[in-house]
Amino acid sequence: MSEFTRIRRESQSNNKRDGLTGILVFGEGEFMQILEGTRNAISSAFSRISSDPMHSNIMLIHFSECSERLFGDWAMRHLTIRTEVLEQMTNFQEFEPRCWSSQECIAFGIEYKAIATSSVLQASKPSLVSAVE
Ligand SMILES: Cc1cc2nc3c(=O)[nH]c(=O)nc-3n(C[C@H](O)[C@H](O)[C@H](O)COP(=O)(O)O)c2cc1C
Repeated sequence: MSEFTRIRRESQSNNKRDGLTGILVFGEGEFMQILEGTRNAISSAFSRISSDPMHSNIMLIHFSECSERLFGDWAMRHLTIRTEVLEQMTNFQEFEPRCWSSQECIAFGIEYKAIATSSVLQASKPSLVSAVE
């Protein structure tokens, strides 16, 4: 089993159990993750993820209360950045979450989700979005 598959399986089963939703995007050797849920559930997940030796240089970009979930239907959607997808985006031409403000990270997640769930796009170009639920 590849490391990606392991992360996806663990995340989805743990997140479902803990009522966490969100998005995990991989590109240019970096992950960007948005997690939504109760303060307790997010804190526990973040501490688990931070102590995972599989990765390093983990940066917490933003932590705040919010009134509604943006990714409520995704226990953790995994996406791999593709140039063709970036070309479809209006505000982002590169994937560089370390340079983005928290608002830009969220805006990226929202726009990427819109592209990933666009049935027209998926029907016409199935290879455009690499997403695994
Ligand atoms: C980039 C990245 C994102 C991850 N995201 C999650 C996540 O959202 N939820 C989760 O439970 N584990 C996530 N993991 C896996 C955790 O680091 C850890 O391996 C896992 O939570 C351990 O699960 P277990 O206690 O059931 O063995 C992620 C790992 C990586 C490398």
